[in-house]
Amino acid sequence: MIKENAINADACYSHAERRAMNYFNTLYDQVKQKTYASTLTLDINLWKKSHIHHYPFISLFSRRKDSSKGYHDYIKWLNYAGKLDDYLDRSISYILMRDMGKDLSTPETQTKVRDVVKNLKTQLIDSSEKGEADAGMFGMDWLYKSAQKDGIETTMICLIDKLKIVSSHIPEEIDADRAKVKLIKIIAGVVMNELDEIGDDIPPEERTQRLDKAIRLGYAYGLTYPFIDDLLDSKVLSAEEEKRYSDMIRTTLITGSVPGLGNWDGKNKELIHFVHSELKSAFEYIKDHQPEATKNNFLEQAYVFFRSQEVDRLKDLTNQSYTNEELYIPVILKSASSRLIVHYITNGPKEEEFINRTFYYGIYNQLSDDLTDMFSDLEEGSVTPYTYYYNYHTQRPDLINPFELYWAVVCNLIHNVYHADPKSREVILNRAINSQKRLKENFGAEKYKEIMELFAADIPEFNKLIQKMVRKADDVNFFDKLIRDHMITTMKNESKQRKRFSETIKTVRHQINDILNIPKSDGIASVGEPIIDAANYSLNGGGKRLRPIVTWMMGVNEYGLKRSAIEPLIKSLEYMHTASLIFDDLPAQDNASMRRGRPTIHQVYNTSVAELTALFLTQKAIEEQTSLDEFDPKTVLRLIQYTAKSTEDMCRGQMMDLNAKGKQLTLDQLNMICFYKTGIGFEASLVMPAILSQANESEIAALKKFSYHFGIAFQIKDDLLDVEGDVNLLGKSIGIDAENNNSTFVSILGSEGAKKAMWDHYCLAMEALQKVPRNTAFLKYLLDYSISRDH
Ligand code: IPE
Ligand code: IPE
Ligand code: MG
Ligand code: MG
Ligand code: MG
Repeated sequence: MIKENAINADACYSHAERRAMNYFNTLYDQVKQKTYASTLTLDINLWKKSHIHHYPFISLFSRRKDSSKGYHDYIKWLNYAGKLDDYLDRSISYILMRDMGKDLSTPETQTKVRDVVKNLKTQLIDSSEKGEADAGMFGMDWLYKSAQKDGIETTMICLIDKLKIVSSHIPEEIDADRAKVKLIKIIAGVVMNELDEIGDDIPPEERTQRLDKAIRLGYAYGLTYPFIDDLLDSKVLSAEEEKRYSDMIRTTLITGSVPGLGNWDGKNKELIHFVHSELKSAFEYIKDHQPEATKNNFLEQAYVFFRSQEVDRLKDLTNQSYTNEELYIPVILKSASSRLIVHYITNGPKEEEFINRTFYYGIYNQLSDDLTDMFSDLEEGSVTPYTYYYNYHTQRPDLINPFELYWAVVCNLIHNVYHADPKSREVILNRAINSQKRLKENFGAEKYKEIMELFAADIPEFNKLIQKMVRKADDVNFFDKLIRDHMITTMKNESKQRKRFSETIKTVRHQINDILNIPKSDGIASVGEPIIDAANYSLNGGGKRLRPIVTWMMGVNEYGLKRSAIEPLIKSLEYMHTASLIFDDLPAQDNASMRRGRPTIHQVYNTSVAELTALFLTQKAIEEQTSLDEFDPKTVLRLIQYTAKSTEDMCRGQMMDLNAKGKQLTLDQLNMICFYKTGIGFEASLVMPAILSQANESEIAALKKFSYHFGIAFQIKDDLLDVEGDVNLLGKSIGIDAENNNSTFVSILGSEGAKKAMWDHYCLAMEALQKVPRNTAFLKYLLDYSISRDH
């Protein structure tokens, strides 16, 4: 049976093309007659009155503040200089106009701008005053806590997990951080549209539910950017793969359902399998959540978007004969349809006016981005209006100058789309001048000048005015740019640090592995020492060595202890921990058959050997500590006392754990058990080097508080892995908790509840970290790692 198509692809594309053609002709006329330049000159002369200031000498220094100073500082400065209201007003107005298709001249939009600005201002000042660190902005704890306020923490957990999986699958050729920022931006766009529809008076549960839906929809649509656009642009796929992949997307959009992948053996098999399954669920999610009335609108816009992108992508920069229409129509189409999709996926039908405004807006941003990216596009041989003009303007005098067309778009927006509304003019010109300023900053003054000489060759007077504005106009910055810049810098920095973190723990782990082995004593070596063999068997598996790694990193880097001096301490921590695992795996306790990727010690030997080895290791730990001879004996004694107490506490914890089997525990009881059985071990790894370096009580208290939450978060992740983990990665048997009827976070709260609890402890641990008077970057990454690990 032949499936009927959901949309008439060619008809809808031609329809869109005709519309784009009309728009193009309007713009082209303006360029030919240069009417945009004279009109905009008048506009700019009006506009500049509120943007060119003649400062008295004294306040010169206060002008020299730019957004490179860091997020909160910049906001604080704006507030101090009395500029924050205007700044937020122009930013919010712009976003309402661009992302939500609003008409700024209506009283409703004006009220909306005022309300949003008021709220945002309070929030911003509040967080600046609280001294929230810039680095924490948009950090995972910040995201989670923000989500909590709206009751959508589960959605956020899901999203954070998804983003992590997605970025780990993004091929190297694609900038994963930028892709992530783009995805977040799209989600934000969809959420804003939804919030606008929701209004303020709906019941909280409904609000939560609609926000959840908006985030998932935004994610589903946003995913197409890295996995369709970027992927096809990146040349990761072979020519054959690319064709097959494009056909698949096309079929999906035309028929309204995702075809199976079939046999895919190309070089990117694994990637394509992943992408296919993710995009399939994303597509189905969007389809299932479409209002009936606009179901096909979504498919049609998506099809126009995809096809116009494809037309553009397949262009060849060496082809000298593209017409202006061929160059600009797809650009108009892709930029308009990508915005229209956002509206269609969330809401019901929109009025004509709204659709028009959104349609006309797109190309403005597209041309501005294309100029920013011109040099990288040239390198990649991509055809954009700018690269094409750059290459062929001498031999093709008929080519439209894209820079002129850009200003024609600006002029058309102000006068035809927004009917010369003063507020719209103000905001659009702010944005246009700001773009030029950013361009100049990015390219550097010299290169910028060179580019302008080329693109503004035929409009010298107008360009002079623009350049004067670029040099002198003030108060043209935007909040969304601040956020974007801040996100990109933080993400880049975090990725770098995270990479360094994993390299560091890998190296340190190797070095620890080298010293763990217990040598046999000379005398009885000839008859063998089965207990040492057994101990080494348990030590040698693939343990993560987190506890000794913590001691090493903090001890050496933060407390300035000599590595050779604390080696015995490092060993003692892993001995104690390994002993606890041996006990824990015994038939009388968790009855586990696999540990660290191998059969448990009681399986390889027997229970008696296991018990004796564990006891042997706890004592070996103490013996090691007694050889900490580079430290004051009193301090060492204090350390040993602490160690003994920790071991007692862990025994308490394990006992509580065993007694809790099958019981319905309270959250307090769960926390307590996990702290004793797991938190204590991590506490020891942090407190021990602190004791050796005579850290004061308040520092130790801060470390303990951190360890408490860290340990519980770590154990919750362990409980989750027991249910959701992959046995091959984990190296220990899974499903053991259910088998033993153990009471864990998952058995009591369910997976979702356990995840929330884990995130709560994550946030509390992050907070506790602020009180630790050391460089805590390592601990932060360790915490991140602990809740996102797969083993
Ligand atoms: C396992 O600890 C026991 C728990 C506290 C959950 P780890 O997950 O650190 O185990 P290894 O040392 O890497 O094997
Ligand atoms: C035990 O917790 C904690 C210890 C310190 C022994 P689990 O019993 O959940 O640890 P695994 O899952 O066996 O490693
Ligand atoms: Mg156990
Ligand atoms: Mg166990
Ligand atoms: Mg476990």
